[in-house]
Amino acid sequence: MVWTVVTPKGNKSDIMPEFSPTRYDSMPYRRCGRSGLMLPPISLGAWETFGGYRGEDVARACMYRAFDLGITHFDLANNYGLPPGNAESICGRVFKDMPRDELIISTKAGYRMWPGPYGEWGSKKYLIASLDQSLKRLGVDYVDIFYSHRPDPDTPLEETLGALDQIVRSGKALYAGVSNYPGKMFVESMALVDRERWAPIIIHQPRYNLLERTIESDLLDHTDRHGCGVIAFSPLAQGMLTDKYLNGIPPDSRAALWWKESTKYSQLIPKAADIMRSLNDIAQARGQTLAQMALAWILRDARITSALIGASRVEQIEENVKALQNTIFSAEELKKIDAITL
Ligand SMILES: NC(=O)c1ccc[n+]([C@@H]2O[C@H](COP(=O)([O-])OP(=O)(O)OC[C@H]3O[C@@H](n4cnc5c(N)ncnc54)[C@H](OP(=O)(O)O)[C@@H]3O)[C@@H](O)[C@H]2O)c1
Repeated sequence: MVWTVVTPKGNKSDIMPEFSPTRYDSMPYRRCGRSGLMLPPISLGAWETFGGYRGEDVARACMYRAFDLGITHFDLANNYGLPPGNAESICGRVFKDMPRDELIISTKAGYRMWPGPYGEWGSKKYLIASLDQSLKRLGVDYVDIFYSHRPDPDTPLEETLGALDQIVRSGKALYAGVSNYPGKMFVESMALVDRERWAPIIIHQPRYNLLERTIESDLLDHTDRHGCGVIAFSPLAQGMLTDKYLNGIPPDSRAALWWKESTKYSQLIPKAADIMRSLNDIAQARGQTLAQMALAWILRDARITSALIGASRVEQIEENVKALQNTIFSAEELKKIDAITL
């Protein structure tokens, strides 16, 4: 990425990035289900990093580098960052200096965002108000994908999915998606949307990684049958499926900076040490880092459209994108991985 000083006549000078002309040459984009949308097999999310324990400088450097490498998709949610919304504000400032028509920007609503009965879950009141707030923070007229972030046990599914339809028809989002919906609810959602001829749900965003494989039995057959794309979040188990925790918790890691001692993941790190080391041995034998193998393993399955990573440093994105050089696994490797992770 090259920085160029542009001084349009009569305007104050601006620093405008000039992105790599080869950025589309090697990224093998995948179709998102049966929709028209192509996504990069590795996408970048902002959750706890950008506007959380990493600032705008890191966000900008990572997003620019990602884009130069062909990563066109950036994922947000209303509540990401600290305070909630900060990730959208920070990424919005970066998006201003990027070519909007080449970007797929997503956001979501579902978790607590403001006080009172209209500040979370899946009512039409909350989803529509939240997206309006997100658009302001992001500084865009529309997002490409808007998600219902989590299932709401109390709001009728008709209301939540009807709100997504209204949002797409209003032009504030181009596509609708759901996240964290279990298989049965996903199937009900698809039937409802089909029956009502609502805007199709083209993408599901579940958690999926070597340590969390529930969707293999619960969801993937359904998404495949319905022609719905899948973007797997936390594909590196928040960093545990990298070599960073193999010998304890480094001071600059998410675990040290962000997780409380009591959180599930902090406790998991020592417990998962043997699993991580065994997986690391397989990765090394494949000529990959553990992070690369964890991503390649997700993308071995053609039903997955994209692995949605987070990053704290440009070098992590560069390392992770190299996972795409080998996403084929032998039966023997898969058997060994299953023996460790199932
Ligand atoms: N829909 C949902 O409910 C939901 C929930 C969670 C996340 N998400 C989405 O998924 C995105 C990714 O989630 P995530 O951040 O948990 O993803 P992840 O890719 O599993 O973990 C990202 C973290 O792993 C570490 N890392 C990444 N690459 C590395 C490498 N090559 N070597 C060493 N460490 C590496 C970094 O942590 P360090 O800071 O420690 O270096 C990075 O911040 C989020 O930003 C969000 O968009 C969605």
